[in-house]
Amino acid sequence: MDQWPGLMLVDDAPALADAAAAAIAEAAVAAVADHGRFTFALAGGGTPRATYMRLAAPPLVDRVPWSRTLIFFGDERCVPPDHAESNYRMANEALLSKVGIGAERVYRMRGEAEDSEEAAVEYARTLAGVFETRRGAAPRFDLVLLGLGLDGHAASLFPGSPASKEIFRTVVAVHAAAARIPQRLTLTVPTFNAAARVIFLVSGAEKAKVVKATLSDGAILPASMIRPTDGVLTWIVDRAAASLLSRDRAGQGRR
Ligand code: 6PG
Repeated sequence: MDQWPGLMLVDDAPALADAAAAAIAEAAVAAVADHGRFTFALAGGGTPRATYMRLAAPPLVDRVPWSRTLIFFGDERCVPPDHAESNYRMANEALLSKVGIGAERVYRMRGEAEDSEEAAVEYARTLAGVFETRRGAAPRFDLVLLGLGLDGHAASLFPGSPASKEIFRTVVAVHAAAARIPQRLTLTVPTFNAAARVIFLVSGAEKAKVVKATLSDGAILPASMIRPTDGVLTWIVDRAAASLLSRDRAGQGRR
């Protein structure tokens, strides 16, 4: 815990979903009490699905102030919104369609756009409008949820990609040759780092090596570059994914 102050260790994938959903609900309630709305950027990939389902079911579904919640996306694959690989589709199926959140409060990235550069500019403009930021300033999300890729990517910021080094734009189009859907849209490191809170969700033994590289070995990976400058960073990691972290240190954070 000294070395990883934001690490929350949980037993397994269901416990991870429970912990993450509870933390999200708590952040939502706190944000609405503080400033009247909750701005939440969702993660893609498979890990958050169970978390989204927890949020869409009692008791949390009745706790989260959905009518004051604004939904955004950390990244999107360049596919139509009904495509099996669409991050929007997964979130919509598991969460959004279940909680009756108005479409006007769901800001999805236009993965289906023919010109993804243009879709990135469009999303940046949307963010600037909703957050009323000045030109060049990053929005401050109340909460950003992220997953960890096997190669240390986060959202669609891949190791070695110029997008990971972007410092001016809030949203960029990315071509990640190794990914199943290579063309993507993603928020950038400065945007994630402007958030009030970032939560990483990591589950499964296949993530153990990259968890160690990111949290313990000081590897410079997109995931390790995401550290809010004036916010809270939490890594919720299950036992299998944390298995290569030194036991003494990891054990202290055990829940
Ligand atoms: C995406 C993601 C990506 C994801 C990680 C982890 O659109 O692919 O946002 O960054 O979070 O690859 O994915 P899993 O949760 O499926 O392991």
